Amino acid sequence: MAQSSDMDTRLQRTLRVISGAAAHLTAFIFTIYIFSVSQPGATLFSWHPFLMCLAFSFFMTEAILVFSPDSSLLRSFSRKARVRAHWLLQLLSVLCALLGVGIIYYNKVLQGKPHFSTWHGLVGLLTVVWALIQNVGGITLLYPKLVQRWTLATRKLYHATSGLLGYLLGCVSLLLGMCSLWFSASVGSITWYLCALCPVITGLVVMGQVSNAYLYRKRN
Ligand code: HEM
Repeated sequence: MAQSSDMDTRLQRTLRVISGAAAHLTAFIFTIYIFSVSQPGATLFSWHPFLMCLAFSFFMTEAILVFSPDSSLLRSFSRKARVRAHWLLQLLSVLCALLGVGIIYYNKVLQGKPHFSTWHGLVGLLTVVWALIQNVGGITLLYPKLVQRWTLATRKLYHATSGLLGYLLGCVSLLLGMCSLWFSASVGSITWYLCALCPVITGLVVMGQVSNAYLYRKRN
């Protein structure tokens, strides 16, 4: 009996290591692919998909995976070093996101097009506002004395839960961006489905990681 539960645990850990590695690879390859399709610099618009992908698919995914006990690239580093890497990557993510949204907004101003008139534009705006608020929440965890309400453990749980929601919003925004006429016309149908799988894969891995670390554990 004990042997079979040992096997289960080993199997679960192996699956978590494989899925974590898949998330790293997916985040990286997807960002490189969007770079090659959008060719940043070719037009003003071309910066938008690339910067948003860099922000949400690469920096934000890596910022969260940094805490994965199974697949963090900084597993051997101290908790303090991983926290530092986390906020640095989140800062880079939010800076790229602000720049990316600023560029698409300005591009629409130049073309006289209406703003936030599609699901992608609306959910995208919500995502970036969420990411900004999430970062401010993160600062209060770095400097716990700033906020006296709730215990630190409770605030960490809130930060992880709302961070997960924000990350999933980012995945939805990426998917909606891929539904745009521009992207559908730029790639073939099989490639489109492969691209659409990318935020699904990273979203599932991040969801598993955060649930295991906070949500399930708190309830047991
Ligand atoms: C999480 C990532 C993303 C966020 C938060 C985001 C956010 C936004 C926002 C807020 C707008 C509207 C700007 C305005 O109306 O003034 C917009 C427009 C646009 N985005 Fe994104 N974007 C993301 C990723 C992408 C990706 C990956 C693509 C392409 C593959 C893309 C393609 C477009 C296009 C074509 C528009 C103009 C048409 C429209 O408003 O829907 N976006 N984006």
